[in-house]
Amino acid sequence: EKGGYDHFMLKEIYEQPSVIKDTYRGRLLANKGIIQMAGIEDNLERFLNADRIIIVACGTSWHAGLVAEYVIEEFTRIPVEVEYASEFRYRNPIIGPKDVVIAISQSGETADTLAAIKLAKENGAFVFGVCNVVGSSISRETHAGAYTHAGPEIGVASTKAFTTQITVLTMIALRIAKAKGTLSNSDFHRYLQELEIIPEKVQEALLTNDKAKEIAAVFKDAPNCLYLGRGYNFPVALEGALKLKEISYIHAEGYPAAEMKHGPIALIDEHMPVIVIAPKQGHYDKVVSNIQEIKSRSGKIIAVVTKGDVQVRELADYVIEIPDTVDALSPLLTTIPLQLLSYHIAVMRDCNVDQPRNLAKSVTVE
Ligand code: M6R
Repeated sequence: EKGGYDHFMLKEIYEQPSVIKDTYRGRLLANKGIIQMAGIEDNLERFLNADRIIIVACGTSWHAGLVAEYVIEEFTRIPVEVEYASEFRYRNPIIGPKDVVIAISQSGETADTLAAIKLAKENGAFVFGVCNVVGSSISRETHAGAYTHAGPEIGVASTKAFTTQITVLTMIALRIAKAKGTLSNSDFHRYLQELEIIPEKVQEALLTNDKAKEIAAVFKDAPNCLYLGRGYNFPVALEGALKLKEISYIHAEGYPAAEMKHGPIALIDEHMPVIVIAPKQGHYDKVVSNIQEIKSRSGKIIAVVTKGDVQVRELADYVIEIPDTVDALSPLLTTIPLQLLSYHIAVMRDCNVDQPRNLAKSVTVE
């Protein structure tokens, strides 16, 4: 049932190239310049007339929501807010009929997300679901939706659900952008083409497994770990940290790299591993200076870089190379080595990778 892998988590990490493809199959036709999802086509006006989009979710799904915030705002110029469902539901949020709420949930059973949806509906919002489990409570409670096609995710640590959520949300952003004309034709086509070949690049990113294992062996006993990223890769830093803490029980925090100097930099010494997501696209030069700041305080730097990078390589203690892609799609690649790193650290620490202590796969109570 684990298909020859030691754990479901590893199997699910390796399934990502094919499930991303399953998720865009029939919806993305790059050569024809078409992107279509029934749930969006049927409700396009709702999105086009939206004053704003509010994304509600928990945990890893909330991180996918954060990536979506960057992508949707960039592509469509619709303001996006991302909320923890548990906070949203109890703070008397301002919400009305011109709001579109997107609820993201792998299981479709998360109690807080379900409650947030009910509240949004009561206030007249249009609620769209991005779920993985077909027929789940959230998929039934929402007005419309688009499924991720990740297949069953058994490991408690979410992996393929995350990347397929990003895939769906990026397609939604592209579809709206096309209708609104907020992306140039050439950008639109470039994104479609890049998305179509992303599964092959994810496959290539999986080749970082040996490197991740080697780095895991060095840092497996670290008591703390910092993850830094900027722009599209800030949410990936949060997700990398969550993955490490939940399966290896190492305390980890994710931060936007520039926030370092507002506090966390005080933590840096020669014992602190800092994982920096530094692909060539995006705010590369800024991240390089953040790396210099860590280095001058003797922090141990593990950098995720674009293949062929030279600048970061000179500064970092370890580099993990991933293929190049457009900025907006880079989370689909940068996430992969972070998943593998957490996995190997957890295995080396003899942790129960698929069923970490105190955690349930779906949190059906608040
Ligand atoms: O099923 P959902 O996507 O609604 O679940 C949300 C979180 O409970 C979930 O992502 C959780 O944080 C995972 N254990 C993360 O790996």
